Amino acid sequence: TRTRHYSSAPSLLPPTNEKLYNKYSEVRRVLGAQRLTLAEKILYSHLDNVEESLLANTNGGRDVRGKANLKLNPDRVNMQDASAQMALLQFMACKLPQTAIPASIHCDHLIVGEHGAAEDLSAGIKVNQEVFDFLESAAKKYGLDFWPPGAGIIHQTVLENYAVPGLMMLGTDSHSPNAGGLSTITIGVGGADAVEALVGAPWELKAPKILGVRLTGKLSGWVSPKDVILHLAGLLTVRGGTGFIVEYFGPGVETLSCTGMATACNMGAEIGATTSIFPYTEASRRYLQSTGRDQASRDAALLQNFPGAGSSEDAYFKFKADEGAEYDQVIEINLSELEPHINGPFTPDLSTPLSKFKETVQEQKWPEKLSAGLIGSCTNSSYEDMTRCESIVKAAEEAGLKPAADFYITPGSEQIRATLDRDGALETFTGAGGIVLSNACGPCIGQWKRQDGVEKGTPNAILTSYNRNFRGRNDGNPDTMNFLASPEIVTAMSFAGTTTFNPMTDSLTTPDGKEFRFPAPSGLEGPKTPFDAGVDSLKSLRQGPNPKLDVAISPTSDRLALLEPFEQFPLSDLSGLRVLVKITGKCTTDTISAAGPWLKYKGHLPNISANTLNTAVNAATGEVNVAYDLDGSKYTIPGLALKWKEEHRPWLVVAEHNYGEGSAREHAALQPRYLGARIIVCKSFARIHETNLKKQGVVPLTLADEADYDKIDAGDEVATVGLYDMLKNGGKGEVSLRVTKETGEEFLVKTKHAVSEDHAEFILAGSALNLLSKRSQV
Ligand code: F3S
Repeated sequence: TRTRHYSSAPSLLPPTNEKLYNKYSEVRRVLGAQRLTLAEKILYSHLDNVEESLLANTNGGRDVRGKANLKLNPDRVNMQDASAQMALLQFMACKLPQTAIPASIHCDHLIVGEHGAAEDLSAGIKVNQEVFDFLESAAKKYGLDFWPPGAGIIHQTVLENYAVPGLMMLGTDSHSPNAGGLSTITIGVGGADAVEALVGAPWELKAPKILGVRLTGKLSGWVSPKDVILHLAGLLTVRGGTGFIVEYFGPGVETLSCTGMATACNMGAEIGATTSIFPYTEASRRYLQSTGRDQASRDAALLQNFPGAGSSEDAYFKFKADEGAEYDQVIEINLSELEPHINGPFTPDLSTPLSKFKETVQEQKWPEKLSAGLIGSCTNSSYEDMTRCESIVKAAEEAGLKPAADFYITPGSEQIRATLDRDGALETFTGAGGIVLSNACGPCIGQWKRQDGVEKGTPNAILTSYNRNFRGRNDGNPDTMNFLASPEIVTAMSFAGTTTFNPMTDSLTTPDGKEFRFPAPSGLEGPKTPFDAGVDSLKSLRQGPNPKLDVAISPTSDRLALLEPFEQFPLSDLSGLRVLVKITGKCTTDTISAAGPWLKYKGHLPNISANTLNTAVNAATGEVNVAYDLDGSKYTIPGLALKWKEEHRPWLVVAEHNYGEGSAREHAALQPRYLGARIIVCKSFARIHETNLKKQGVVPLTLADEADYDKIDAGDEVATVGLYDMLKNGGKGEVSLRVTKETGEEFLVKTKHAVSEDHAEFILAGSALNLLSKRSQV
């Protein structure tokens, strides 16, 4: 171990960097000579208590990854309109005058793509007016930035405005890691996690492992940064990144644009990664400057070249990994050898190189007709993406060709839309028959009213430059096969109108009978003059905080309802619980809280609770969404839960393996709790859902002996034994269930739990929110 000298940051560092630098110095002091990756430098420099977090259970700081429980202080929170509703309702329940850290709201998920930007935007505002009014009024009251509908998609807006190298942000959307393209640690979370950060409580994360992706070579021709992540998804599968931060490094990194790096980080969510990050490069500096953030680029340069926290150069912050830093796993990608990929259908990790796509389509009997090509979205609507697509459209236009498939363009923000409009790219697209949709999520999240008459149930193929392609995601049709590709490939194939066309090798026939080959796309990394910010009415508004203002929620609204705090845990064990239903088979977060038409009730807990477990299978009868009351009368599962809630009869659910797998959807924990669930007992839990349950005050227990699943039935009476003591002892102690059958037969079922000291506090308080709100009032 070398001797190092530490001092606090000299005043020449700007305040944000000074904070980062001081924490970073502490990290170096605690971890000694260890070489660190960039992700670790930024993440650990946001620890609430560096020493406590890095040294507990980590073999003296040598095994932090995968072991340490990090308590982190994020710098800001970004929320999209669908998830912001419940996040803000929970924040309001804490009764604080303003948020502890800056935050923003982005109205992007609720606008339907149908005819084109202007018409769709005004229709979307009309239908969702009360939700937008609520979000805007909450923003004014608590002092948040409010980006109105049409202003842009959260991740593009964050990259353009808020992402500054070295920040740690939380976003209430899974693709929030997009901002890792500008050397931030940005993690997608649910509303309850966002609220923890908004009230200033440390946010917890098990220290992720680091998966290094070493890039060499240089992209050329048809290959784009999107192909890096399409290829990686194929290698790693949708679960390969779970528990990891993906960190890119190597000489190839220096050849990518900043927005290209953001694309790769954005889609890292599809391999289950906690987040993804790139080092700070010359391209990052250029992007900061072209988006009007000269100061941020100067700040980053200062820290980049600052003579480190220690006495030797390997302790410099540098905005990249230390020389010799170790990764838990390394994947090498040579950009010079990479080829375009197309991923899908129905899963983002089914990756096929473009050169093999035609034969795969024919082998798999996927549709050869391409119904629609959609480019843009939060993933791929940068200036570079769009000007490269423009070059393709121009070449085809000059040859007299028009897209053979419907062709849609979604700009990611008003700034990128206005800039592309000013520089002529949008005119090129519309001139070719393309439809420019509003600056919103639209078809990416099921908000797409197709105009081509493809009926639900009709197999058909679409190609998008988006990031996710689960069944039914775009148009609600489970038979629409969504293939993911770079925007350049989507554009060229839209002209061909077939899924078997390879723009690198195949040719089209022009109207005058000539053979036409697309030239390789070419574009500009950024505009020659600074970005155009667009129309004033679509800029962010920040007024307040103003505690005197009211938040706009009508008492008669069916889309928004204030949250009542959940009751505290009683000062004793639980008794008199009844088994509402015993579930058999898979029970995902979608089974517990379905999406689709229910999305509109995300801000109304009583209304959305009517979907609770409505696709769960009753183990006794095999029926879907059926539960029986104690007198044998038949109900839907949420129907009986509501009846028991009204009768003040608390209940539990018994289920099988991996209960709550799928997404981190917090409604899947909130709804059962609202309806009166106190316990969920199953063979095993999906980890994130298990934590979500504890945050909402529901006790997750697993059966010590799986065979006990067969002994418990719906309607049985259950009392806990040892639960209250375990909670009082900070999670220490065993819990059993005393089960009483209708016949009077009684037996004890042993369980296991993963309740920590913090979780025990949440549960005793009734929910994490109750505890946070009590603490923040002090
Ligand atoms: Fe919106 Fe789709 Fe991105 S839903 S945030 S455009 S992943």
